[in-house]
Amino acid sequence: MSKSPIRVTVTGAAGQIGYSLLFRIASGEMLGKDQPVILQLLDLPQAQKALAGVIMELEDCAFPLLAGVIATDDPAVAFKDTQAALLVGARPRGPGMERKDLLAENAKIFTVQGAAIGQYAAPDCRVLVVGNPCNTNAYIAKESAKKFGRVPSKNFTAMLRLDHNRALSQLSSKTGRPVSSLKNLIVWGNHSPTMYADYRFVTSNGDKVKALINDEAWNRDVFLPTVGKRGAAIIEARGLSSAASAANAAIDHMRDWFLGSNGEWVTMGIESDGSYGIPEGIIYGVPVITANGEFKRVEGLEIDEFSREKMNFTLKELEEERAGVADLLG
Ligand code: NAD
Ligand code: LMR
Repeated sequence: MSKSPIRVTVTGAAGQIGYSLLFRIASGEMLGKDQPVILQLLDLPQAQKALAGVIMELEDCAFPLLAGVIATDDPAVAFKDTQAALLVGARPRGPGMERKDLLAENAKIFTVQGAAIGQYAAPDCRVLVVGNPCNTNAYIAKESAKKFGRVPSKNFTAMLRLDHNRALSQLSSKTGRPVSSLKNLIVWGNHSPTMYADYRFVTSNGDKVKALINDEAWNRDVFLPTVGKRGAAIIEARGLSSAASAANAAIDHMRDWFLGSNGEWVTMGIESDGSYGIPEGIIYGVPVITANGEFKRVEGLEIDEFSREKMNFTLKELEEERAGVADLLG
């Protein structure tokens, strides 16, 4: 018997990430090759014409799993009964900007959309915030939904998977080991240059990657800055921020959350429960294992002095961002 469709909301659907994302969701790459989906696409009124064109292209793919498409500029319609919400719609940064420079402009979007999720989404809705600064936008959405007591706060997550994938790729080039062999990577903290990509626990076919590399200067002076500043390097090269790799990371994040990570560690920005010295409530990148539609934080890892310093540094930035939006949340 075929499964009933899952409603998937994508905001900013007419934008560049949307264009790389929607076709892959509709083809079953996110929720499974046997799972029909209904796409509920939100964008601004002025983007509806472009969105209509994207929908024509979706129709022209004749995806067997695409059970319906709704286009709207109304969050109440877009989030109605949705079980998977990908919050992409926001202004991207340009050259010379940091992601937190977008906070003033983008924060309001996530207050409105968080409240709409709180009122209209399915109670088990899983939310991924991609729009930057994504950790603090996820925090805003979570806090805005909270007062409706419908969708649990733990279901609001931020995307650090792009950083995770970037770090995997750098480690693979450095060691010559295939990406698929690399296990137990973590990216702690904020999706910003302060993030801490931590390969202390990474193994490749049983070998410790830290011992294979055995070069602390490379870690400090090459690896961390390369991963942390990759978004800016792409903006510099393309004149536009990353889109296909961002859409790919969003698919990875949601697929693993819904379908499981097969026992492997993946990085998700999730609400802190106080572990690892991260104050409760902050949305912070941590290692998780996903199974049965749930994520579970990897607990009890040793935090050495270098790591503590890095983790506190990215935390401080998140605390500053949180203080910056306190007024908005009342
Ligand atoms: P884009 O400008 O191409 O598209 C953004 C879309 O959002 C546009 O269609 C716009 O009309 C729409 N939009 C704006 N405000 C909206 C609102 N209130 N409701 C619904 N739609 C709205 O941008 P993009 O390249 O697709 O990037 C989108 C966001 O994703 C940016 O904030 C960017 O910085 C961020 N991003 C995050 C990551 C990550 O790893 N977390 C990676 C890449 C990009
Ligand atoms: C990225 O990391 O590529 C995105 O967050 C876009 C950006 O502004 O860097």
